[in-house]
Amino acid sequence: MDLLSKWRGEFPILDRTTYMISNSLGAMPRGVYEGLRSYADSWGERGVRAWEEGWWDMAVRIGDKIAPLIGAGPGEISLHQNVTLTQAVISSCFDFRGPRNKIVMVELEFPSIQYFYHEQRRLGARVEVIPTPDHIRIDLDKLLAAIDETTLLVPISQVLFRSSYIVDARAIVERAHRVGAHVILDVFQAAGTIPLNVRGLGVDFAVGGVLKWLCGGPGVAYLYVREDLRSKLRPALTGWMAHRNPFAFETGAIDPRNDSFRYLNGTPHIPALYACQPGLEILNKIGIVAIREKSVRMTAGLIEGARSRGWRVNTPENPVERAGTVSVECPHANEVCRELLARDILVDYRPKAGVRVSPHFYNREDECDFTLAQMEEILKTGAWEKHAAAVTHA
Ligand SMILES: Cc1ncc(COP(=O)(O)O)c(C=O)c1O
Repeated sequence: MDLLSKWRGEFPILDRTTYMISNSLGAMPRGVYEGLRSYADSWGERGVRAWEEGWWDMAVRIGDKIAPLIGAGPGEISLHQNVTLTQAVISSCFDFRGPRNKIVMVELEFPSIQYFYHEQRRLGARVEVIPTPDHIRIDLDKLLAAIDETTLLVPISQVLFRSSYIVDARAIVERAHRVGAHVILDVFQAAGTIPLNVRGLGVDFAVGGVLKWLCGGPGVAYLYVREDLRSKLRPALTGWMAHRNPFAFETGAIDPRNDSFRYLNGTPHIPALYACQPGLEILNKIGIVAIREKSVRMTAGLIEGARSRGWRVNTPENPVERAGTVSVECPHANEVCRELLARDILVDYRPKAGVRVSPHFYNREDECDFTLAQMEEILKTGAWEKHAAAVTHA
């Protein structure tokens, strides 16, 4: 009740829709209107002076609003346009031409990350993808066995996007570090919905974006690099933001900074850095513990409601293994999803997952029941059928 009375009113779209899709795009806080207005004011009124009055260091400074949400410290995060690019910055620190050139990942890793690493084969990388036949959990033993002395990088999601399964990151870090490999923990589907401690885990890198559970909108992804590695590694994907003295416009090779600016490159994405702040501030005020407690309750109710209707659930039942989404594979799930969208019940559909339902701290618990009841009604009345042709041709 407290979360609702304090925060629901901050998200205008909740008055108009049943917003169950925070795993994809978190609801926009009303403060974003004001945030983007201050961006326009600073550009409009201060002009080029805005760079030295705050714009220049935003891509590290705003990272401090993300740090407490993932267990990082001040100054430990640099901000980029998307997660795929953060992987590119990390990968550019390494050389795939030596004997340690293997990338180990799981089939359930987010596809964009798989596409990126497969292309690194042209630089000498070998890619081993561990199959995940049930599309819900990873095979931890197989993954650990694949991490050997030739492994360079292990990009792995803390929470799998398809099933919301929470991966045992500690076991992976332990194994990787025993054989000298680096772990890149993608906390995109975890940050803002489950407690995280990237420092405590000892991961080499953590990456993620703000547009889902952090309600920060598109265009901002974060990169945490472990303290002892930060000044040692050297990204080849670099640029003047990483230079010790960028305004000297020195020619030739870069003289890189040792702090998080070292991981930046060209001109940062200033409008997105303004837009992301209201969401991050709200998340910090609420705290992840309260969010997680409510999330576990709502997802448990969704699982129970889906099962009682005889639908398959592609999300772990045990809350210790489950983050914020419930993937419900009812009959005709794709068509049902389209009809839900037409009724302003916002969810999405993913192959091998089903309808992904993702309540957040701002949802009323009755919205979970309402979503399931509407799915049932859509199936009973045949309202899904009008979308059948669109789905076949999609
Ligand atoms: C776990 C995970 N990683 C990465 C991405 C996408 O990253 P990018 O910021 O490159 O679009 C997503 C989804 O959008 C995701 O769920």
